[in-house]
Amino acid sequence: MNWRYCSIVTLLAGFTVPVFASGPVSPHDARQEVEMPTLQRSLMREDMVHHLAALNEVLVLLNAGKLKESADVAEADMGLSSMGKHAARTQGKGPGRFMPDGMRAIGIGMHTSASEFAGIARKGDRAAAYNALESVTGACVACHAGYRLK
Ligand code: HEC
Repeated sequence: MNWRYCSIVTLLAGFTVPVFASGPVSPHDARQEVEMPTLQRSLMREDMVHHLAALNEVLVLLNAGKLKESADVAEADMGLSSMGKHAARTQGKGPGRFMPDGMRAIGIGMHTSASEFAGIARKGDRAAAYNALESVTGACVACHAGYRLK
């Protein structure tokens, strides 16, 4: 074995060993982890799945020109009137009680925006309604970008 061969083996080892040893690398996650009791965490996840379905329903109804119905869905599932619906089951301590201030503010912003959307949609202007929906989806994005559950 001459020195050239040795150095190639060393080089290859240097490059290949760390690749095999480190395995797949997860992307960096800078979101704040939020701890909640099991009940509140599962209620929140359930709410989320409903929010996504409601958002889709709102878009379907808007597209069909059924503005009043889309307002009803938005208000019932995401609007201010949907707040506190877990109060009885959680003895007044719904998921919102366990959110850091910034997260709770975004959550309240989502509820407010959904109610504002509903008010605008009820007036019958479809373009204005689509416009107002942006603040709702903006709140989904803002919260998901900043927070995750533990
Ligand atoms: C106040 C913060 C907040 C807002 C606002 C918010 N989310 Fe979430 N959402 C979360 C968190 C936190 C999770 C859990 C992520 C994790 O698994 O760590 C989540 C999870 C989800 C999930 C996955 C649920 C599951 O477990 O299967 C969906 C779907 C979702 N959100 C949809 C939405 C939609 C649509 C909106 C807006 C209409 C929205 N969310 C608004 C915080 C928020």
